[in-house]
Amino acid sequence: MLKLISDRYIKPLLFLTFAAKFNNMSKQTFTMIKPDATGKGHTGAILDQIVKAGFSIKAMKWIKLTEEQAGLFYDIHRARPFFQELVDFMISGPIVAAVLEKDNAVADFRTLIGATNPAQADEGTIRKIFAASIGENAIHGSDSDENAIIEADFFFSKLERF
Ligand code: CMP
Repeated sequence: MLKLISDRYIKPLLFLTFAAKFNNMSKQTFTMIKPDATGKGHTGAILDQIVKAGFSIKAMKWIKLTEEQAGLFYDIHRARPFFQELVDFMISGPIVAAVLEKDNAVADFRTLIGATNPAQADEGTIRKIFAASIGENAIHGSDSDENAIIEADFFFSKLERF
């Protein structure tokens, strides 16, 4: 009996699980408002710009990373010459970590924040307005759907997302 039930429902269940995950992928991104921006009191203005651009907040926390946590988050950059500078900066003050939702979230959020180097960012973007340099660039945005999931999972449990 148990075997019959599982045979009958396992494929649709698997399909629905995959479809739900896939459907969410392009709708969510992950962000951090970095220590330069929180320290200068720009958190409220940046969140205002994010919400006005149509993103809804699914999870959010005000947190100060340890050196180990910052190193793990940016592990992919460990071999880069700027790695230690990046880690030192990211632990220099509190950050706001958040999961954001909107259609086409990853690409639209990267448009909203502008180029990594604020000197090359378009007028009106968050980095153009609030960032001082490529190292201290005010805000992070995931660069792909896959990384958005990995980065959101780094900071938030399922119980912390609504
Ligand atoms: P972020 O989008 O958070 O992802 C990696 C970060 O590394 C990037 O923002 C920059 O803050 C930082 N970064 C990239 N290139 C350099 C660089 N040449 N010098 C210092 N920091 C950099």
